[in-house]
Amino acid sequence: MEKELQRIREAAFHELEQALDATALNDLRVKVLGKKGELTAVLRSLGSVSASMRPRIGQLVNDLRLDFEKELQAKQEAIKEAELNSRLAAEKIDVTLPGRRRELGRRHPLTLTLDRIKDVFLRMGFDIEEGPEVESDYYNFEALNLPPDHPARDMQDSFYITDQFLLRTHTSPVQVRTMQSKEPNTPIRMIAPGKVYRRDYDATHSPMFQQVEGLVVGPNIRFSDLKGTLEMFCQGIFGDSVKVRFRPSYFPFTEPSAEVDISCVICKGSGCRVCKGTGWLEILGSGMVHPRVLEMSQYDPAVVSGFAFGMGVERIAMLLFGIDDLRLFYENDVRFLRRF
Ligand code: DAH
Repeated sequence: MEKELQRIREAAFHELEQALDATALNDLRVKVLGKKGELTAVLRSLGSVSASMRPRIGQLVNDLRLDFEKELQAKQEAIKEAELNSRLAAEKIDVTLPGRRRELGRRHPLTLTLDRIKDVFLRMGFDIEEGPEVESDYYNFEALNLPPDHPARDMQDSFYITDQFLLRTHTSPVQVRTMQSKEPNTPIRMIAPGKVYRRDYDATHSPMFQQVEGLVVGPNIRFSDLKGTLEMFCQGIFGDSVKVRFRPSYFPFTEPSAEVDISCVICKGSGCRVCKGTGWLEILGSGMVHPRVLEMSQYDPAVVSGFAFGMGVERIAMLLFGIDDLRLFYENDVRFLRRF
């Protein structure tokens, strides 16, 4: 019996040492001390032990139980502590580590330019209108007095989708759409920014680019209104010291028509590579709205008159920021974008 107890003791302590977690410990406790446990079995069989041996065996069983329980508890606590430590280690934060840097996004130079343009016109009381980028031949050309054989209608220059639909080649159709959306002869003061498309690609042309169209219609709108408004605009964008000149030109939808030049922003008018030695830079087209255009939109040229203008956003951005290749705007190299 004593030998059996010795064996139980050795086995129990050995397994105790091996146990790695709370479950293993509990299994071991049941195996030794449980109702059907090894030690319990010894106690049960105490009746068959001679009366002289019984106290000694009883004592040994008791000692073993106490020793085992003590070790078991110590081991339980050790495992608990180890688990806590590893959880804390996993949650550990090194507060001395440097933070992660976040690149701050910023507005694209074309967005900056368009925002400035809008801002100048909004301060002059203009509304902002929009039109579709897929446009009908009618709005893009016909209603703007472009004859059927006009070179701009050529398939070579425009992206046609079907016979009658194309990607708009300018924002001028928004003039027509805006007039048609109103009661005839309702005064209008609007700009229409947006993307336009042409088959063109080099350092100063992109197949997609942006324009801002402008239209002012009302009783007694005169060429002097056009001049004053566009002069204000140029100074609003390029500064009060910029000089503005109007050059006679031709557009099918305006009569008379004028192109607007500003004094060169690079050389201030003395002549350089950018202005090709002229001292002037062309920045927009304009004119008095052609009576045919008003009529086709149910506006009466005997009652109202108007002026219109159109400009390229990329071109203005290039002059504003001194950039000589328009493609940089679309490549979006962060080293370029970071400059703004
Ligand atoms: N639509 C012209 C273009 O794309 C720009 C333009 C010129 C618009 C004169 C106008 C204007 O409204 O009056 O080149």
